[in-house]
Formats: sequence, structure tokens, C-alpha cells
Amino acid sequence: MKEAKPSRTALRVAMRRAAHQIYDSPLVFRDPIAVPILGREHVDELQGDAASRYHPFSLGMRAFIVARSRYAEDNLRRAVESGVRQYVLLGAGLDTFAYRNPWPHLHVFEVDHPATQQWKRGLISRNQIAVPDKLTYVAVDFERQSLAERLAESGFDENAPAFFAWLGVVPYLTLPAFRGTVDYIASQAQGSGVALDYGQPRDAIPPMERLAIDALAARVKMAGEPFQLFFTPDRIAAEFVAFKDLEDLGTLEVNARYFQGRRDNLKWFGSAARLFSAWL
Ligand SMILES: C[S@@+](CC[C@H](N)C(=O)[O-])C[C@H]1O[C@@H](n2cnc3c(N)ncnc32)[C@H](O)[C@@H]1O
Repeated sequence: MKEAKPSRTALRVAMRRAAHQIYDSPLVFRDPIAVPILGREHVDELQGDAASRYHPFSLGMRAFIVARSRYAEDNLRRAVESGVRQYVLLGAGLDTFAYRNPWPHLHVFEVDHPATQQWKRGLISRNQIAVPDKLTYVAVDFERQSLAERLAESGFDENAPAFFAWLGVVPYLTLPAFRGTVDYIASQAQGSGVALDYGQPRDAIPPMERLAIDALAARVKMAGEPFQLFFTPDRIAAEFVAFKDLEDLGTLEVNARYFQGRRDNLKWFGSAARLFSAWL
């Protein structure tokens, strides 16, 4: 990420979640705060360009973004039902879970780069979204600061299990920063879990798909957030040897789970991105 600048990619994915609320039916990911959090500043962009909204690339990207949020919250439900009381959003961006948290006993920790977090807090305040008691903001740069220290200072209980969502972050990290965070999650209490998405390396993607991925990679690089970390399913599984119940989903599984029987063309395509979860 560019130093001292809020994440542009966080805004792009939040725009796709908001567009989903307005333009897609039925909803795969219901988020009544996705539009309000953007406020007037982004409403024109959200309403404009109807043609590109239904372009296959737009539909595929939107499907990917909403499916990964739905996947994280489906896994969070499983965690909460088995007694987890702490939810940590790593690289929270404009995620709105904390502001619509249905579980009074679940404490949410929004961990993010200081610049992105400051920008989000401005949006929350300007758009008059109430900040719940059960939310703690934790400013951390994963490349330079210790997640363990910052969470401990913020009241996170390392002796109690936690569920971690790590959405849209892994491809932007260096391998040491990624491994540091995996080791930290692995050191948590039994019953903890994590959900994330990751990207496959270019040579694991069919040639036809590479053009679209190259265009996306060029855009995020221009935004100062280049993709730099990729895994194949085998390689990510090897990073999570300390965990159990590993689940790794590609297009077919995700479409079968979340997009079956739709009349529109909202669905995942391609093999560049995958969803993953693991438990202790
Ligand atoms: C694509 S956004 C995803 C945001 C959110 N998880 C979502 O799904 O909407 C990437 C997020 O990773 C965060 N991020 C990237 N590099 C980071 C770093 N070195 N330290 C802390 N956060 C980082 C950005 O601030 C941003 O919030």
C-alpha cells in the first residue's frame, strides 16, 4: 500500500458490495449498510454507467466480492454457534459487519492499515452510522508492526477462541508478513478459525483468462497496491499444516453453493481466485 494513503481497492470492493444491494436480486450477501457507508461522495458513481454494471467482467467481479463476504460470515456463524466470542477482521476496509452485528456477545476487532482506518472512520462519522460498543479499531501495518502486540493492547483475549476474516488482503502482502499472520492465528485457542481468499499464480491460470487478470493486476498496481503473493491449492494447504478442516473452493463449488438457479448472470468465473478456510 502507498504510505499514508487509504486503500483504493477497499473502496472498489465496497462499491461492488453496494451495487449488489441495489442491482441484484436475489441477494447473495445482504448488507443494509453497504450503500449508506459510501454516502453522497460515491453515490453518483454507484448510479452511473448502467451498461458496464452488467458487463460479464463486472458481474464476475461482483459475484466474487459478495461471495467471499458471504463465505466469511457463513463461517463466522459456525464459529459463533460453537462458542466463539471474538471476530477479527484483518484488513477490514469498508466491511460493515461490526455495524450490523446480530450477536450481542460477539466483540469485533477491525484491524487495518492506519490510513485506511482513518478514512473509514471519517465515512462512518459523516454518514451517521452508529459505532457499536462491541467494536474496537486496531490500526496496524502488517508489514511493519506486530499484529499480536497491537491486538493485545486493544483488549483482544488470546486465551479465548476467535474467528478471523482476511478478505482481499493476502495477494497484497509479502510472504513474511503473510506467514507472520498465519503463525499468529495458529497460536490462538482451540476452536479458532480463519476465512480468506487467495489468488493463483499466472501460470496456473488458463491463457484465455490471463488477459482479464493482467488488466486487473495493472489497475491495482496503478492504485499503489500491486498483487505480489500467489498460491496454488497445494501450496496454501502447506502453509496451514497446523490447522484442520481445511476447505478450498473454486468457481464450480462457489457457484453451486451461492449462485445456483439465478435468472441473471451473476456468478463466478475463471480460476484466478479461490476461497479458503481452516480451523484449530
Ligand atoms: C481489497 S481491500 C479489502 C478490504 C476488506 N477486507 C473487504 O473485503 O472489503 C484490502 C485491505 O487490506 C488492507 N491492507 C493492505 N495492506 C496492508 C498492510 N500492510 N497492513 C494493514 N492493512 C493492509 C487495506 O488497508 C485494505 O483495507
